Amino acid sequence: MSVNNEVKYNFPDNFWWGSAASATQTEGAANVDGKGQNIWDYWYEQQPERFFDGVGPQDTSQFYVKYKEDIKLMKEIGHNSFRMSISWSRLFPEGKGEINPKAVEFYNNVINEFIENGVEPFVGLFHFDMPMELQKIGGWANREVVDAYVNYTSICFELFGDRVKKWFTHNEPIVPVEGGYLYDFHYPNEVDFKKAVQVGYHTILASAKAIQAYKNQGQDGKIGIVLNLTPSYPRSQNPADVKASVLADAFFNRSFLDPSVKGEFPQELVAILKEEGFMPEIADGDLEIIRNNTVDILGVNYYQPRRVKAKEHLPNPEAPFMPDRYFDNYVMPGRKMNPHRGWEIYEKGIYDILINLKDNYGNIECFISENGMGVEGEEKFRDETGIIQDDYRIEFISDHLKWVHQAIAEGSNVKGYHLWTFMDNWSWTNAYKNRYGFVSVNLNKDGERTVKKSGQWFKAVAENNGF
Ligand code: BG6
Repeated sequence: MSVNNEVKYNFPDNFWWGSAASATQTEGAANVDGKGQNIWDYWYEQQPERFFDGVGPQDTSQFYVKYKEDIKLMKEIGHNSFRMSISWSRLFPEGKGEINPKAVEFYNNVINEFIENGVEPFVGLFHFDMPMELQKIGGWANREVVDAYVNYTSICFELFGDRVKKWFTHNEPIVPVEGGYLYDFHYPNEVDFKKAVQVGYHTILASAKAIQAYKNQGQDGKIGIVLNLTPSYPRSQNPADVKASVLADAFFNRSFLDPSVKGEFPQELVAILKEEGFMPEIADGDLEIIRNNTVDILGVNYYQPRRVKAKEHLPNPEAPFMPDRYFDNYVMPGRKMNPHRGWEIYEKGIYDILINLKDNYGNIECFISENGMGVEGEEKFRDETGIIQDDYRIEFISDHLKWVHQAIAEGSNVKGYHLWTFMDNWSWTNAYKNRYGFVSVNLNKDGERTVKKSGQWFKAVAENNGF
């Protein structure tokens, strides 16, 4: 570790300081230069009322036109790395078939701009944005989409792999499963547990096949996945509560973590799926592909823990099957909350995840790929100098970083910290309600950017490699 006596929490040399964002949430230009529709463009067209203040994904934060300015700002506030995503429907307007040359040009320009500015681009390949043409044939529920995805990702490796050395097959693959097929917050907003399992299975298979394609091309970078991990805490050490937390963990964490890192599925989950008749369709050879193509690196998104207790009432057998048939959520008295987003703040969770990865997942190379605090109405914190005084965000980040630091002291292989997010961006149905950025975006002034106090603070953290 580099030691700077003015800082109490020093981080290892070459620690990755930066932030993350996704194509749909930042690029805008949703229907220009040949981009095809994705599920968000389509859903907004169909049901604009679902989106906060009726704001859709059309313009978002205009990264498509302002990327040079944005990358310069990233550099200015200390970023040495940044996770972006490629929009599948920009590159392949129909999800497969003809490639869009304008998209190739755009992503080449963006990647080159990052490199010229000394900000390493980490590139995600799927961040919730299924091309609409593929959703029409069932999206991830249809195995053909796995093939289309492997084709799309292979082309990305060929086009950009000479400069991009960190790839991520999916961002939070459980979220489209939950949102799209269980809890009604992503398109196609169905409630169908059987389909949800098939969708989840296909995304895991697609990830393994993309990793296989990457290795087969002889690419020399690292390829991984980004998972949202929610440590699952039981209400008490009572065996029934502990069992509930083990099952919640199997459903929401290990379902994707185990196949991604270990190449196998958690047996507790397989047993339930078999017993309830929800096993997905698995083709010959799939499990071998999953076993042999695990990730090199893991991105950890951490926002909040999950607290559970044993079920108090027997589930209604007539109700559609949901994972919470096996546990009840538990609201811990006195918990600290981010009232804007309604999420618990529990900083030690980030440490518990990292130690779990160290102890039970071969201490796989990992980094914090998202962590952050969405706040409504931040304009009221803008002072007379024009800067948003987001001290709460500084406190949030430093409280989490202290636990990351502790995990490193205990041997965690965590290599970096990326905030969600660089600039205020559009969110899935919440649009611009909650602001997460180091940089504010003024939607009334053509997306004008202003660095917040947290951005200035982060610059010092990155420069000192600690705080
Ligand atoms: C993660 C996603 O789930 O959390 C991001 O990777 C998302 O895309 C972020 O924006 C914050 O959640 P939200 O719903 O408040 O935008």
